[in-house]
Amino acid sequence: MKPIPEATGAAAEPASRLPTGGLLCVVGARPNFMKMAPILHALREIAPDLPVALIHTGQHYGSDMQATFFDELAMPVPDLDLAVGSASHGVQTGTLMVRFEPVVDAVRPAAVVVVGDVNSTLACALVAAKRNIPVVHVEAGLRSRDRSMPEEINRVLTDQLASMHFTTERSARDNLLAEGVPDAGIHFVGNVMIDTLHRHRKSAQAPAATLARYGLAAGAVANPAGFALVTLHRPSNVDDPVRLADLLGTLAAVSERLPVVFPLHPRTRAALSGHVVPRGRTHPLVTLPAVGYLEALGLMARARVVLTDSGGMQEETTALGVPCLTLRTSTERPITVAEGTNTLTGPERGDILEALDHTLATGGKAGRLPECWDGRAGERIARILVDRYAGAGALPA
Ligand code: UD1
Repeated sequence: MKPIPEATGAAAEPASRLPTGGLLCVVGARPNFMKMAPILHALREIAPDLPVALIHTGQHYGSDMQATFFDELAMPVPDLDLAVGSASHGVQTGTLMVRFEPVVDAVRPAAVVVVGDVNSTLACALVAAKRNIPVVHVEAGLRSRDRSMPEEINRVLTDQLASMHFTTERSARDNLLAEGVPDAGIHFVGNVMIDTLHRHRKSAQAPAATLARYGLAAGAVANPAGFALVTLHRPSNVDDPVRLADLLGTLAAVSERLPVVFPLHPRTRAALSGHVVPRGRTHPLVTLPAVGYLEALGLMARARVVLTDSGGMQEETTALGVPCLTLRTSTERPITVAEGTNTLTGPERGDILEALDHTLATGGKAGRLPECWDGRAGERIARILVDRYAGAGALPA
């Protein structure tokens, strides 16, 4: 685990560098970047004079987990990096609060905008709410109803702290209303992560080029019958050695059917150190480091099937029309199952292989694009934010 570094000097003296009185936008971990990028782009276009500061908490760091994403998504350089790094949940969340509070005090923003469900989301929402700064939560109201997931705790608490809730699917409003969130602040706007997908789809990296970057032969992605893309990083799947060993056995069985391409999240890479990753049976099974956004998009778009425990990839595969088997027993994104290409298999080998064989035999669920996953969610959010925080009438016609 990386020790928590000192905050960059700017954290101590943020007022001199950050625009005051506007929006303070927070990102911290990999899935946050694709969600915040379209909002920042739209704000710049619709209201170039509205002060917007971007804070990176540093929950994810290094080129694989964040720098590449900033470049690929044309994100502005963060105004401040709180450099929290990796730590236990308590230390990470607490350290972030200590570092974010002086920023909020100095900037006195009109609102703090947080996205998704990672520890950075909750930590910064908590600081803002306690300083009586309105919290805006993007991707609000999603519920797995599985409190063993840290993300579920982050979602429920962030939604209680927020005064404005932007939702990606209509079921989220019902979840929020059931928890006492007032209807007036809930806005169904669609999915910002899918905005990013639409924007960058044409630039997606060809799978063979991605493998070549890591010195791997293209064979795994050149199979005429296609390949399976696998990602795993949920603590419930990778932190338990028995479960992880069983999943590796399942992937070996998958490689009897088609090649397997398995990019490794750092958490998974660390967890695998005590295991032997199977080499693949009839077909290759290749592992590679965590890939960038355009590489992931290219692999997903060309995969015959995706096996994952990621939240975002359930949505991205639905938008791409690629069958997705989610190796979890619940999802906070039910629309991907009801309307999209997603099937929940759970982590058991028999269930996964049965769903895989059905998918390979039938082509899998065709699915359709959910309502408002149209590439304009960021614009809808920006218009509502500008209307609310830059004063009514500030919007161009
Ligand atoms: C976090 C989010 C999860 C999200 C995932 C996407 C929480 C509680 N979890 O999980 O919802 O799906 O990001 O990636 O916020 N590490 C590195 N480099 C990094 C970051 C992490 O090596 O840049 C390693 C460290 O060993 C660290 C471990 O990965 O301890 C876990 O990182 P952490 O940010 O705690 O959680 P994720 O599993 O990435």
